[in-house]
Amino acid sequence: MTNSPDTLVKEAETSFSDANSLSSLEDAKAKFLGKRGSLTSLLKGLGGLDPDERRKRGAQINLVKQEIEALLERRRKELVQQELSNRLAAEAIDVTLPGRGYGVGGIHPVVKAWQRVESIFRSIGFDVADGPEIENDWTNFTALNNPENHPARSMQDTFYIDMKDEKGLPLLLRTHTSPMQVRYARMHKPPIKVIAPGKTYRVDSDATHSPMFHQVEGLWIGTDISFADLKGVYTHFLREFFETSNLVVRFRPSFFPFTEPSAEIDMMFTEGPNKGNWLEISGAGQVHPTVIRNFGLDPELHIGFAFGSGLERLAMLRYGVTDLRTFFEGDLRFLKQFNK
Ligand code: PHE
Repeated sequence: MTNSPDTLVKEAETSFSDANSLSSLEDAKAKFLGKRGSLTSLLKGLGGLDPDERRKRGAQINLVKQEIEALLERRRKELVQQELSNRLAAEAIDVTLPGRGYGVGGIHPVVKAWQRVESIFRSIGFDVADGPEIENDWTNFTALNNPENHPARSMQDTFYIDMKDEKGLPLLLRTHTSPMQVRYARMHKPPIKVIAPGKTYRVDSDATHSPMFHQVEGLWIGTDISFADLKGVYTHFLREFFETSNLVVRFRPSFFPFTEPSAEIDMMFTEGPNKGNWLEISGAGQVHPTVIRNFGLDPELHIGFAFGSGLERLAMLRYGVTDLRTFFEGDLRFLKQFNK
């Protein structure tokens, strides 16, 4: 770098345009205008000159200084502009992309089935109750005549929770909605007519079983409620649910610890695409005397029936779904079909 005023402007121009960022421009500025910059040392040299020469030279240096400052300012503006457009490019938003939108939600097919079940049972005088999914093992098993270490417990393997409730009872994810029989009956005086739909859990997973699924429990307790009432109520329910009277029901002997006698309810369409196949739809039975006692009632006086049906099974049959897992995959192409 020379110290001649004439070449100084050219040098500054090159140096400024070589600076590609505001911070390197500051470095370049220091070389010319800084305390130890070329221009400053030129000014310092003025002291040794005689007055005439000093004035001439001083004016010349000032001119050079103004030119350099103007160059600096121009480059600074350029760089600010450049940095701004770089940032705009980097943070650009593609306004042509479709928005996320606020689509109208729909009702899940299992919930649709659930709502149908509720409205049918309400129409024949049943209350609808709701209860905890994290249940204690007394209410889920013991109160339902399913004693500790009884092999029938293994029919319903579940997820245990590493915690006890306030009474010190082990907690688990309820394996069925039947504990709601106990909860409801201990809080209400007979006659009791209730359904309790909700989520249930088991260690089970294949095309027809999901670790989380839904059931609806039914309970009718009075002084003279018989198996005939169960048949009447359940057959009425199915005919309403499927909106057809071309449907027959059969009760097959079965076993549940909490009912005696126990039955499996099967149904068959006598018309339509599914006609001619017996389909298992529900467990049911007359409530066991021990369970009536655990309700806090006298089995000599109170009698009734209970049933527990799978909501997925009802939804599959009503909507023609063949794989249970599709209910829980959240695939909109599947789900949208139920909300047209
Ligand atoms: N809780 C039984 C099950 O989940 C079904 C059932 C309910 C059977 C009520 C009888 C009475 O398999």
